[in-house]
Amino acid sequence: MKPDLLTDHVYRVAAKIGNRDLFEGIWPIPDGVMLNSYVVKGSEATALIDVVKDWDGALDVINKQLDELSVTTNTLDFLIINHMEPDHTGALREVVERYPDVQILCSPKAVPLIKAFYRIEKNVQAVADGQTLDLGGKTLSFHLTPNIHWPETMMTYLQEDGILFSCDAFGSFGRYDVCFDDELDEATMAHLHSETERYYANIVSSFSPFVLRGIEKLKGLKIAMVAPSHGVVWRSHPETIIDHYVRLASYLNGPREKEVALVWSSMYGNTQALLDSIIAGVESEGLPIHVLQVPQTHESFVLEKVWRSEGLIVGMPTYEYKMFPPAYHVLDILARSHVKGRKTLRFGSYGWSGGAQKQYDEFVDAMKLECVAEAIEFQGSPSQEDKDKAFARAKELARIIKAM
Ligand code: FEO
Repeated sequence: MKPDLLTDHVYRVAAKIGNRDLFEGIWPIPDGVMLNSYVVKGSEATALIDVVKDWDGALDVINKQLDELSVTTNTLDFLIINHMEPDHTGALREVVERYPDVQILCSPKAVPLIKAFYRIEKNVQAVADGQTLDLGGKTLSFHLTPNIHWPETMMTYLQEDGILFSCDAFGSFGRYDVCFDDELDEATMAHLHSETERYYANIVSSFSPFVLRGIEKLKGLKIAMVAPSHGVVWRSHPETIIDHYVRLASYLNGPREKEVALVWSSMYGNTQALLDSIIAGVESEGLPIHVLQVPQTHESFVLEKVWRSEGLIVGMPTYEYKMFPPAYHVLDILARSHVKGRKTLRFGSYGWSGGAQKQYDEFVDAMKLECVAEAIEFQGSPSQEDKDKAFARAKELARIIKAM
C-alpha cells in the first residue's frame, strides 16, 4: 500500500487485514478490517498517530509507508496513542525500537497500561484534556473521550486542517481499496454502512452513553474530516458518519427501527414448526423481520440486527430444565451489550418438563424487556391452536411497534 495524502503534510499509513482471524478473538471479519495510522508533519516536528498490531504483516506494510514518507529514526518526534487496545498498540515495542527517542503521548489512564502491556515507561507522557502540541504550523489538540472504546481513550484533533483522528470512534469493519468516503461506489458505500452497524453493535454498543457524551463534547471543534483507525476517512461528508453514530447510540434507549429480530433455535424441529406462523404474523403488519437461527448464525450478526430492532422474538426449546444453550449464549451476549427495553415474545417446545421460560423471564426482568403477550409454550409438537396463537401474538407485537 502507498501512503494516502489527506491534506498538506498529513498522511494515512494503513494496513488491510484479511479475514483469517476473529476481531478481538470473537467477531468474524469476513471482509477484513483496516488498521489506519496517521502521520502529521510540521515544520519542526513529526507525529505518528496510533500504531498497529502486527497482524497479517501489518507492521511491515506500515513501516514501508513510513519509509516512503522519510519518517526515519531521527525524524519521528512524537507517537500519539489515542487508545491502548492492542489492535492499535500491538507493535508498540517494535515501533519504539525503530524510533528509540520518540516521545509517547497518551491519556493519563493509558500510562500504566502501556507499562503493563509492553513494559515501556521511558519517554511516556500523559497529556491533559485540551492540551495542545505545536509541530510547527500543525497544532494537535488532545481530547479525552473515555470509553469510546475503553476508559483511557482520547481523540486527537489537527486544528489547522480540522481533522479529527478518532481511533475506534466512527470506525467500521471491512477492507477498502480507497482511502476516502467520496471514492466509494454506491455498492461499497452500502456495504460500509452495514459493516459500520455490525462494528458498532459488536464493539461499541455497550458504551453508547459515552459515544453521545463524546460527540457532544466535540461539538466545539470544526470538523472537516473524520479519520478513524478502522474503515475509511470521511472527507466529503464527515457529518454522515457522526450522524450515523448518533443514531446507532440512540438505539440503546430508543427510538429504534420498527423492525423485528427473530432469534430462534430448535433441537428436533418442533420449535421451528412455529416459525412460519411467527413470521407471517409480523409481516401481516408490514414490518421487516430479521430471521436469525442460532447457533448457525454467529452472534456478531445476531447482535447487529437485534441492536437496531424494536422487536425481539426468541424461539427456543427447554433443554435440561433450562434455556437451550445456544440461545442462552446469544442472550448473554445481548445482555452484555445492554440490549434493553425491546418489545418481546417467546415461543418454544418442551419434552418432559419445562424450565426455559422461567430462565427467560429472568432475562426479561434483567434487561427490562416488555413482554407483549404470554409465551407460546407447548409439549412436543405444536398444535394448530398453537400456530394460530403464534400468528396472533406476533401480529400484536408488530402492531404495537408500528403504532409507536
Ligand atoms: Fe480498535 Fe478498541 O480497538
